[in-house]
Amino acid sequence: MSPKPLHILITAGPTREYLDSVRYISNPSSGKMGFAIAAVAARRGHHVTLVSGPMELKPPASVNTVRVETAAEMLAAARRAFRCADAAVFCAAVCDYRPLNRARRKLPKSQAALTLKLTPTPDIAATLGRVKGRRISIAFALEDHDGRRKAEAKMIAKHADAIVLNGPINIGSDRATVEILRHGGDWTALPSATKPLIAKRLIELVEQIAGECGRAAPSRR
Ligand code: C5P
Repeated sequence: MSPKPLHILITAGPTREYLDSVRYISNPSSGKMGFAIAAVAARRGHHVTLVSGPMELKPPASVNTVRVETAAEMLAAARRAFRCADAAVFCAAVCDYRPLNRARRKLPKSQAALTLKLTPTPDIAATLGRVKGRRISIAFALEDHDGRRKAEAKMIAKHADAIVLNGPINIGSDRATVEILRHGGDWTALPSATKPLIAKRLIELVEQIAGECGRAAPSRR
């Protein structure tokens, strides 16, 4: 239990980026990691806002859950929660691109090839990282090669205090093998563990950073 409760924003799950009224592009993120972090944080007495993409999982009790679908909706909800947050854990598997145009009605099928023009979605962690002030920010990086180098670059680009590196094998699984890099520190490789156990390590890290920086009091920002 942390000495003082923190306000923690957690983004979780995938986003859906629509090309017409019913079709979308997305990814297979289960949201298990984000939900586990939210559950652990709430159990340890923190005030949690979970901004969640579409998922089958039931959100943990005593967590303020905001359901969203698209990256733009996730950014808007995260931005609102971030205002009074002390810390944010950006766990969501946000689609990096969305169809440039969303047709109002279902596109008719035809035998002709269909070319989709995609445009980048907003980077929520980076956008909020730029205005984080004294807030603590933890980002994730999913990499299939050259993981440490890429994750460290992302930590810096997103102004994160730490980054959690994981691989595609962890998607949808109840367990994960991750490595954590703290800004200005060294890599820590955690042994394979359940997502709730990893979540506990991450919330302990948030509490530790908050304690070191005197940020353990509930936010007044
Ligand atoms: O750049 P990349 O997508 O690999 O970065 C992953 C990290 O950034 C994760 O913490 C993820 O939640 C966050 N992210 C985000 N908004 C995006 C893309 C990624 O918040 N559009």
